[in-house]
Amino acid sequence: MTTSRKFRSASWFGKLDKSGFIHRSWMKNQGHPDHVFDGRPVIGICNTWSELTPCNGHFRQIAEHVKRGVYEAGGFPVEFPVMSLGEPLLRPTAMLFRNLASMDVEESIRGNPMDGVILLAGCDKTTPALLMGAASCDLPSLMVSGGPMLNGKYRGAEIGSGTQVWQFSEMVRSGEMSLCDFQEAEGCMSRSTGHCMTMGTASTMASLVEAMGIALPTNAAIPAVDSRRYALAHQAGRRIVEMVHEELKMSQILTRKAFENAVRVLAAIGGSTNAVVHLLAIAGRLGVEFTLSDIDELGRGVPCLVNLAPSGKYLMEDFYYAGGVPVVIRELGDLIHRDALTVTGRTIGENNANGAAECFNREVIHTVETPFKQDGGITVLRGNLAPDGAVLKPSAATPELMKHRGRAVVFENIEDLHARIDDETLDIDETCVMVMKNCGPKGYPGMAEVGNMPLPPKLLRQGITDMVRISDARMSGTAYGTVVLHVAPEAAAGGTLALVENGDFIELDVTERKLHLDVSDAELARRRELWTPPPAHSDRGYTRLYIDHVLQADQGADFDFLVGHSGTEVTRDSH
Ligand code: FES
Repeated sequence: MTTSRKFRSASWFGKLDKSGFIHRSWMKNQGHPDHVFDGRPVIGICNTWSELTPCNGHFRQIAEHVKRGVYEAGGFPVEFPVMSLGEPLLRPTAMLFRNLASMDVEESIRGNPMDGVILLAGCDKTTPALLMGAASCDLPSLMVSGGPMLNGKYRGAEIGSGTQVWQFSEMVRSGEMSLCDFQEAEGCMSRSTGHCMTMGTASTMASLVEAMGIALPTNAAIPAVDSRRYALAHQAGRRIVEMVHEELKMSQILTRKAFENAVRVLAAIGGSTNAVVHLLAIAGRLGVEFTLSDIDELGRGVPCLVNLAPSGKYLMEDFYYAGGVPVVIRELGDLIHRDALTVTGRTIGENNANGAAECFNREVIHTVETPFKQDGGITVLRGNLAPDGAVLKPSAATPELMKHRGRAVVFENIEDLHARIDDETLDIDETCVMVMKNCGPKGYPGMAEVGNMPLPPKLLRQGITDMVRISDARMSGTAYGTVVLHVAPEAAAGGTLALVENGDFIELDVTERKLHLDVSDAELARRRELWTPPPAHSDRGYTRLYIDHVLQADQGADFDFLVGHSGTEVTRDSH
């Protein structure tokens, strides 16, 4: 497809004056011939490659395959780096920098000559950061995920990223596993390029971008090392050129219907609780009306179809071979807005019609009639302990604990937890409710994935594997347990969580969506009078900016000044 329309990049490369000379001349130092500046679409390839983000370590190769497709379709590809966020290494938590990376993406797109953009994302925060930044510009955009690692293999068994780390680490703490065996499992878990192969946050977000139609069908589950991942990247390169010609912008795809579809698929895949804050933040950038309550209501009663860890047994390789996200979308039938537009130019229903979405393994992807679990939706809890909401993932929780009243054992922060959790004299039993404060967006800062607190060794030795745990933190998408997260307002912002004391009783009722601190209003008012906020973790630089401007979890933890978008116009040229 061609058009005589002038593209955005023409205001850089299409001029015959001094500034046009400068824009073309310096690009030519990379060996680009004259004809690539002839007015063809310029496609940015936004790359989160980094050797410090091992999940995205293969992205230079993926970018090369995108370029093949772009050239083939008559476009001019230009690859550019943005800040990369790797979960395993980045301290204090990659989430602290999600908004920073999104600003990098937004300004890199807006300030440079590109007409459309391919977003290369993999590790957890890279997907929302790229979507948020690109949404603020609203060019034609298409995401290509890096794909999951091959299934982990350890002593004849399949092991999943993250999920088995938590399990093995508890086994070491309880004396069931030696440190030597623990170390052997490291290489067995991560045996190929790609991101976590459980249904953790990376796989969840990759599945949701497919469900929202901002990626090509099958994007989520093709393993990172499978040749079909590279063929998909090639096709994405071709398609983004067409999207520029069609003027198919991100905001035409990421509509309210797309977000509703994402919530339904999130439930059906048993996806990560982290998707909640990311979806809210992305919607905020696009100006789509979408709230925490929508996530509860739209996910309510949606069955979990996918038997993947941490909610189930299988891993992403199995999910791909079983048919992947297309099967889930088809299975959900009318729970999905089938008329939602996607990057293919067709609707999500057309993309995933019967012939294109056959299931090859019903153990891995169940039907709606015989689901893997009855209720897959993320539950939003409210009550005096979380007036603005808290979340829990029922599919990863213990059914017997979903209605529970217990005595609070309080940890003031993560350091307090680490200092006392292994203390054999800690006054705690399996009926208690573990409470941790000051791990929310402002309190940590960055809202770390520490909500799945480790259980006390003395209870682990008794065979206890789960307890009710409550905090303002997040939890790794690969983790599990009856864990209440994202309590809002957080403790550091003066939420009721800050006022909980040892010995208070807390009531959790998932069916009733209730999280109640059994302390009178008068007593809470007295405690509030005495409360002082914890000292801020930093008084300078980005962390200071973050603490001052981050919104609470129920609003996606974006910066207050980044909500909304400001388009692609740049009116000033320094030349
Ligand atoms: Fe990167 Fe899990 S650590 S996806």
